[in-house]
Amino acid sequence: TELSKIRNFSIVAHIDHGKSTLADRLIQETGTVAGRDMKAQLLDSMDIERERGITIKANTVRIDYKADDGQDYVLNLIDTPGHVDFAYEVSRSMRAVEGSLLVVDSSQGVEAQTLANVYHAMEADHEIVPILNKIDLPASDCDRVAEQIEDVIGIDASGAIQVSAKTGQGIHDTLEAIVKELPAPKGTRDAPLKAMLVDSWYDSYLGVIVLVRVIDGELKKGMRVKFMSNDTLHGVDRIGVFRPEMETIDVLGPGEIGFFTASIKQVRDTRVGDTITNDRHGCETALDGFKPAQPVVFCGLFPVDSAEFEDLRDAIDKLALNDASFTFEMETSAALGFGFRCGFLGLLHLEVVRDRIEREYDIDLITTAPSVVYHLHMRDGSMRELHNPADMPDMTHVDHLEEPRIKATILVPDEYLGDVLKLCQDRRGLQVDLTYAGSRAMVVYDLPLNEVVFDFYDRLKSVTKGYASFDYQMFGYREDNLVKMSILVNDEPVDALSMMVHRDRADARGRAMVEKLKDLIPRHMFKIPIQAAIGGKVIARETLSAMRKDVTAKCYGGDASRKRKLLDKQKKGKKKMRQFGKVDIPQEAFISALKMD
Ligand code: GTP
Repeated sequence: TELSKIRNFSIVAHIDHGKSTLADRLIQETGTVAGRDMKAQLLDSMDIERERGITIKANTVRIDYKADDGQDYVLNLIDTPGHVDFAYEVSRSMRAVEGSLLVVDSSQGVEAQTLANVYHAMEADHEIVPILNKIDLPASDCDRVAEQIEDVIGIDASGAIQVSAKTGQGIHDTLEAIVKELPAPKGTRDAPLKAMLVDSWYDSYLGVIVLVRVIDGELKKGMRVKFMSNDTLHGVDRIGVFRPEMETIDVLGPGEIGFFTASIKQVRDTRVGDTITNDRHGCETALDGFKPAQPVVFCGLFPVDSAEFEDLRDAIDKLALNDASFTFEMETSAALGFGFRCGFLGLLHLEVVRDRIEREYDIDLITTAPSVVYHLHMRDGSMRELHNPADMPDMTHVDHLEEPRIKATILVPDEYLGDVLKLCQDRRGLQVDLTYAGSRAMVVYDLPLNEVVFDFYDRLKSVTKGYASFDYQMFGYREDNLVKMSILVNDEPVDALSMMVHRDRADARGRAMVEKLKDLIPRHMFKIPIQAAIGGKVIARETLSAMRKDVTAKCYGGDASRKRKLLDKQKKGKKKMRQFGKVDIPQEAFISALKMD
């Protein structure tokens, strides 16, 4: 395809503002997919994404469009994830395209992720076309939202396109705007191949699939290519595009986006942001490499039933084939046996992986307290990363500790501002900025990531009745007075529950933890002390009293089936418990105990 007939773009939006619905409409309107093949939200390919309504892996689709000027165009849409955990994926896929559609729900207005994502688009020098979506809704107010886009984002929204992705209104105008307002890509066909590795994933039939954007030259079937970051060579055996299903073609020229396969064994052999060129006489300079995504939240995953350890290993290996941003290593815990210490891009990422293991591989898991990565500055001058509070060395060797901080941007209607400020303050936040955009406040806080990983987002939603939006980015490390708090059940330390806390908050945290655990752990035949301790010092204590009666004692009167049911239920409950010394702790205790109210 000629460069002047290509348009490459992405769609940026806050979650639920209609990105996927709009993408589906563009595909449908251009006849890329026959009506009957149109599944709801075509681009979200994994079930779990569809269920949760979030887009995780960047997807791409090639659309043929005959414009009003009578010319045939090729439009390449790269779909980007909308959630904060995947900010890195957003920024890298943005570099593969020249423009963005900025979708804002005209009944809601600009939200925190609208801002975060549009900044990525600006950094990538995109031409941006504002779209006001959901104009079919009675609450839609295009004038107000256009003004807000100009005020808050600072781009001209006078020509914003009014769209209903639901009814199809404005879809034709959107396609015309893509052709007229977005720039065509630049590139040279008779130059050595220079292509950007945008994404890669594992497919059980084809092996590793590599998504590329060709900058210069041509990518052809049968040629040998070199990955410049590690000088590895690969023979290209299949080239294609997504429409959105795969279609094989022979050549990808400059400006084009598509995939190839080359008998690559694992996703780990491909580096996102790498430059791909000819094996001989290749291009001289590589594209600016991207930095790989760094896991920021770690936790242990253990099978509830220790006999399932090998199954868990298998599941994790398979998931890792397709997700290079997720890290893992084997871990053994005195209480939990064999498991894995895993690193994630954020809490949502953690939840998605955990859900997939439980659901797709049918393994019940114990998830230990999520922990951020601390920097331990040792007395001997060295620095160590601490991924697991259980590995905390004796404090006498540690000079000081630093914890990761984030910069959080929160947009919230005026009336909830007080509650949001209080929440941030309670979580050791430092206010950086407070401005207004219409009747909404925009607050920026510098917060410890450790205070955000457990339930900050849930709390924020509940104190603002769902009206706040939130986005964050990593910010740096700062020293603080942090200590390791251990939890002892029946005088045995349960390392899966140990956590790093700020010294000033340790007493309150410890008290809350032991109280929660007292409710979560079922009674046993003996009494069980539950304690929180720092070093050797107990800071909080509760005692779970012994069970008095047989639970079935109440079912007198010969109702055998009822009695059996009750015993069955007990047995089932047992399966989800782990033994610590003589005490059974239910699986949900590990998560629930960590949530703060
Ligand atoms: P993520 O994929 O989670 O980032 O969300 P999204 O931005 O892709 O939003 P999605 O397309 O899933 O739309 C969110 C909700 O808004 C869905 O229930 C859609 O049916 C609805 N929706 C999308 N566009 C419109 C519209 O123009 N009008 C109305 N009334 N509803 C719409």
